[in-house]
Amino acid sequence: MAILVTGGAGYIGTHTCVELLESGKDIVVVDNCVNSKPEALNRVRQLTGRDFPFYELDILDTGALGRVFKDNQIDAVIHFAGLKAVGESVQKPLAYYKNNITGTLSLLEAMAAANCRRMVFSSSATVYGANPDVPFKETYPTMAATNPYGATKLMIETILRDLYTADNGWSIALLRYFNPIGAHTSGVLGEDPNGIPNNLLPIIARVVTGKMEILNVTGDDYDTPDGTGVRDYLHVCDLADGHVKAIDYVMGKTGVEAINLGTGKGYSVYEVIKAFEAASGVKVPYKVAPRRPGDIATSYADATKAKELLRWGATRGIDEMCRDLWNFLQKNPNGL
Ligand code: NAD
Ligand code: UFG
Repeated sequence: MAILVTGGAGYIGTHTCVELLESGKDIVVVDNCVNSKPEALNRVRQLTGRDFPFYELDILDTGALGRVFKDNQIDAVIHFAGLKAVGESVQKPLAYYKNNITGTLSLLEAMAAANCRRMVFSSSATVYGANPDVPFKETYPTMAATNPYGATKLMIETILRDLYTADNGWSIALLRYFNPIGAHTSGVLGEDPNGIPNNLLPIIARVVTGKMEILNVTGDDYDTPDGTGVRDYLHVCDLADGHVKAIDYVMGKTGVEAINLGTGKGYSVYEVIKAFEAASGVKVPYKVAPRRPGDIATSYADATKAKELLRWGATRGIDEMCRDLWNFLQKNPNGL
């Protein structure tokens, strides 16, 4: 009996694999390594002292997935596999729709054929769109996304709801992540995206390690206390722990539930820069630049539903997130 982790070699996937293995669960990982390296999974093995099967395959390949289900007794799936760069999704909409939507359909087909009907899906706070009423609650209506990446998250949520309507045997958690950052406290695992990053902390990481010259603060004229965007940053290990709780949750019931995973607290870009500088002792050079199209001023979670349903809450603060990121960068100057 094992948990299949799609996209398990990625940033959130590897941290979740560690938490799953440490909680005594068996795992099977599939990933095509389009945005990760197999080495990341060796780090998971090294950290936990446990081994597990890894299949380097594309989830679009339903036949190959079918063989994974045949070779292993899979209880439930955590579905991380997907492309996630907002800007790139605007440039390459078809690639994003094909990979994320068709990939999910392919996975669901393989799951149904194997009679495995439990899924924890990586959704995103992006489904709340530009809703001005923070904190975001799961009861809010979702909004049309401003980019193809966000659209895929919303569509997959709809697909999974429709699936449950058609067959009440499914048990599905739609986890709406806010902004995961940080790294494993050991410094052995962390975020190492292929290509040019577009999220705040990976960019700060490139700047302080000399790989990028300067951070562009994208907008200082938002309606926020200091004018910069406010987000709900969440330690990746807290997020990983949320997945272990979500797996226990989908095991015991049927249904489909959207659940926010965030801390419930927002920090501005300037506050993040200060926290990172305090944790690292290194200055973050920055300049103010125009807003990014589609960005919103403020986003943070109402995290009460996760407490009620999953018995989960974030335990690590912004200082710990920045400290662990800095530790990872120092131990891995050339990435994973
Ligand atoms: P990541 O890119 O590090 O991990 C995703 C993994 O999926 C990668 O290892 C990639 O190689 C793999 N993958 C992509 N397409 C695949 C395919 N067709 N077949 C097999 N493997 C494939 O990203 P992450 O930050 O770990 O995000 C994991 C999930 O969480 C994604 O679905 C992402 O959209 C979602 N999410 C992330 C954030 C964030 O800020 N990191 C926020 C909200 C939601
Ligand atoms: N920012 C900068 N400079 C940069 C990049 C970002 O100042 O170079 C600012 C943004 O304006 C924003 C904050 O830093 O105020 C955070 O930006 P991120 O790109 O790190 O995060 P977002 O909240 O914009 O987007 C993230 C994920 C999306 C997801 C969204 C909602 O990248 O995939 O959260 O969950 F859709």
